[in-house]
Amino acid sequence: MVLVSKGKFIALEGGEGAGKSTQARLLVAALEARGITVDLTREPGGTPGAEAIRELLLHPPGEGWGAEAEALLFAASRSDHVARRIVPALERGEWVISDRFVDSSRAYQGGAGGLGDETITALHQIGSDGLRPNLTILIEVDAAKTAQRLAERDGDASDAIGGRDAAYHQEVAQSFHALAKKDPDGFAIIDGSGSADDVHSAIMAAIDDRLGR
Ligand code: TYD
Repeated sequence: MVLVSKGKFIALEGGEGAGKSTQARLLVAALEARGITVDLTREPGGTPGAEAIRELLLHPPGEGWGAEAEALLFAASRSDHVARRIVPALERGEWVISDRFVDSSRAYQGGAGGLGDETITALHQIGSDGLRPNLTILIEVDAAKTAQRLAERDGDASDAIGGRDAAYHQEVAQSFHALAKKDPDGFAIIDGSGSADDVHSAIMAAIDDRLGR
């Protein structure tokens, strides 16, 4: 889908504990200080329907979802989010910042979950007309630092996906990296190991470079 609008769509991506949510808040504040109207949202979620699906995904009833059902639920929640929130905001000329978007499905369900990128891309085409962000910011943090941050954040309260084993999360990280390397125009890779302020500066530099000031 090619959007004809003044708005810009930026997705923040990365594994668990990469600092996406902190960076999303800092990014919104910096853009608002420039006079830009920003809609901060997240996936799975962002609309009442998508938030209801989020609950089903992160706290599944019964024995949990199979890989295909999980991918379809993510695509369904994204479809609602895109149609009811993201596209209308972009059409109003706003900037949309989403804490995760389709590249999470490509890395988690497509890569680590084994469904493959073609399947996820096909679901995204059906559900959301293939909408791509103007820029995807991939925040990378090494596994040891991630484990430390997660222990501080979640304790043992992680959800059905965050709680998967280290090998799964390692594959997620590798998949994200491969996707970003394959599409250097669509992605900016940001080292997330520094202080929140340093990471924020790197993100702003990437945005100004790619999307203009
Ligand atoms: P969340 O609490 O938002 O995680 P985080 O704070 O790490 O961003 O939970 C979202 C979880 O869902 C997270 O484990 C990543 C996973 N996820 C997918 O597996 N596929 C997707 O398409 C998306 C959007 C998220």
